[in-house]
Amino acid sequence: MQKPYYRPRRLRANKTIRSMVCETRLSLTNLIYPLFVCPGKTVKREITSMPGNFNLSIDQIVEECHQVSSLGIPAVLLFGIPTSKDKMGASAYDENGIVPSAVRAIKLAEPHLLVITDVCLCGYTDHGHCGVLHNGDVDNDATLDLLAKTALVHARAGADLIAPSDMMDGRVAAIREILDSSGFEQTPILSYAAKYASAFYGPFREAASSAPKAGDRKSYQMDPGNQREAIREVALDIEEGADIIMVKPAMPYLDIIFRVKSEFSVPVAAYQVSGEYASLTAAHKNGWLDQKNTIIESLTCIKRAGADWIITYFAKIAAQYLR
Ligand code: PBG
Repeated sequence: MQKPYYRPRRLRANKTIRSMVCETRLSLTNLIYPLFVCPGKTVKREITSMPGNFNLSIDQIVEECHQVSSLGIPAVLLFGIPTSKDKMGASAYDENGIVPSAVRAIKLAEPHLLVITDVCLCGYTDHGHCGVLHNGDVDNDATLDLLAKTALVHARAGADLIAPSDMMDGRVAAIREILDSSGFEQTPILSYAAKYASAFYGPFREAASSAPKAGDRKSYQMDPGNQREAIREVALDIEEGADIIMVKPAMPYLDIIFRVKSEFSVPVAAYQVSGEYASLTAAHKNGWLDQKNTIIESLTCIKRAGADWIITYFAKIAAQYLR
């Protein structure tokens, strides 16, 4: 056969036809913007390794949420930077702690903005691990109770979704149980189900001052080389009551997003993490990559792989481009 009878280029010939055969359209309706709330008043401190992102005091975060909401972004994911840290992470489950206080202020000012709260201890423990330590390792079962208490405090403050990111075994069940028995049976859990021990979290740890003082997170977060284990982790979280599951990071883990999406019938969230943001932003700042097109392409590809929701530090910039 000499001639190409089928010519894929026919359907790429002009903008109109390209748009009509487009399979994946990015939309603002499923972007989530992460925010870092810190103590104080009128604080707006830029995070060095994440230009354009800030540690914000509550008054500032409320301002920011006005902006986020008016851009059409439907949800924020909140991380807290507490005033004090200790070995048990007590400020994480203090009802007057930084996150519950911020949730109350945001929900008062922007009732329609969905507030998702990250539940973990690493930002609240003086050793920087995601749970309590026993003989140098995180004690899984002793941590569950503290995570559950943290989740309850967030729900009571008005959090719309609870997002545990600690990677302890059994934490979704522990959180589901405490929420159900306290009148929050309608509060969904977005679990960081397949969370890898990734070097791409570096800038976040500056933002949240949550780097472990000693050791690493490899005894609770997953090995980047593992795929089947992600399927097992997701299955467990769904069994325990997770409503939405997350894969994290996003771009280096598109195969995981794809498999999870194919094998389960729950919504899938993907987190384009701090290191993904930082590396692209560095290239944008140097003029090495085009900002608009790399942001839109990266988010479109994460969606194409199967992500229903995308958590991204580019949400505000993307919103401006998508309007
Ligand atoms: C807390 C947590 C981390 C991130 C989200 N929740 C850091 C970590 O596990 O060390 C990373 C997010 C990012 O890099 O943007 N456990």
